[in-house]
Amino acid sequence: MLRLLTAGESHGQALVVVLEGLPAGLEITVEDIQAEMARRRLGYGRGPRQRFEVDELTLLGGVRHGRTLGSPLAIEIRNTEWFRSDRWHEEMSPAPGATKEPLTQVRPGHADLAGMQKYGFTDARDVLERASARETAARVAAGAVAKRLLSHLGVEIISHVIQMGSARVPAEAARPTPADLDAVDESPVRCFDPAAADAMIAEVKAAAKDGDSLGGVVEVLAFGVPIGLGSHVHWDRKLDGLIAQSLMSIQAVKGVEIGDGFEVAGRRGSAAHDPIRWNSEDGRYERLSTLAGGLEGGITNGELLVARAAMKPLATLNVPTLETVDTATKESAVSFKERTDVTAVPAMGVVAETMVALVLADEAQRKFGGDSVAEFVRNAESAAAATRDRDA
Ligand SMILES: Cc1cc2nc3c(=O)[nH]c(=O)nc-3n(C[C@H](O)[C@H](O)[C@H](O)COP(=O)(O)O)c2cc1C
Repeated sequence: MLRLLTAGESHGQALVVVLEGLPAGLEITVEDIQAEMARRRLGYGRGPRQRFEVDELTLLGGVRHGRTLGSPLAIEIRNTEWFRSDRWHEEMSPAPGATKEPLTQVRPGHADLAGMQKYGFTDARDVLERASARETAARVAAGAVAKRLLSHLGVEIISHVIQMGSARVPAEAARPTPADLDAVDESPVRCFDPAAADAMIAEVKAAAKDGDSLGGVVEVLAFGVPIGLGSHVHWDRKLDGLIAQSLMSIQAVKGVEIGDGFEVAGRRGSAAHDPIRWNSEDGRYERLSTLAGGLEGGITNGELLVARAAMKPLATLNVPTLETVDTATKESAVSFKERTDVTAVPAMGVVAETMVALVLADEAQRKFGGDSVAEFVRNAESAAAATRDRDA
């Protein structure tokens, strides 16, 4: 099974990723991981930090001559801002000392105040440095490896933005396939529907003009997912629950939906479920719709896996208006301005792909096992063949 640990602060020297449980023989290079991380910086409405940040990666362990060894994979992502500016050397120094500029105007909608109260800090930076979404860079690096592992089973995961502010992709619009991923990434808002993309860009422009921010919804689609990942037998083995937790753990995600979860809640039962039919040509059962998002009873059913994540509008605003308090003086204040994006929904989609990839790779490892990629694939193929034979 896969275990992911990340360490590092937003303006510290580096992020560190340890991914344990990978089989041996998985081809992976620094460039593969960097390419996935570059996708995380995509999106109209993002601020200057995305231009400053270059993800300088080092594969510290677990890979030799371009292939995993079965040992823990360790990745260092150096923070170029740390090396470029003396400010962060002092502010984020691990040596004993104290900051000259404690942050005491806590930002609403951030972890600042709750984190200070929990850990007994008087400087919000002690919290915000780790709560920051910079940590998602470490997740995406690990996700690139998980996606590579899943590709050996024929699984491909993509995402697209289906809502930004009040602009939405119509329900009947075509969904992208893996072949459309470049087109999605080329859209400034990572939206596959051109008319909706134009409306989203207009919303971002209007919010930027007002110094305001926008949230939205992304849809993650996993193609080629094997039958039988997850289980109905216990609450913490249900794959829908695991996916929901992983998506909800992304900074600023406040809602998760599997398939058409919220929409079907308002329908009658007769119109809320995916009918099942025997497809004699392909020799398999098929669902006639994707309302359940490819999961029944917490188990993948071999259909398209669909999960959606809703992101709140970013809480840091370029024109600060949110009321807050200075924890040093208890005086009212207006939330301070750190340079911030207008929206990060397109980037969040890439992080959401990563989280789904990590959960699916973990479950695939649990079901198929294997110390090498060859063994993992052999086991998965034999499980698929057994299902086909039983079903026929
Ligand atoms: C990719 C990404 C980028 C983000 N960028 C910002 C940002 O520029 N400004 C901001 O206020 N919040 C940003 N956030 C959200 C905050 O990190 C998040 O709201 C905060 O840590 C509090 O966590 P919570 O909203 O999950 O409670 C971003 C989130 C993601 C996923």
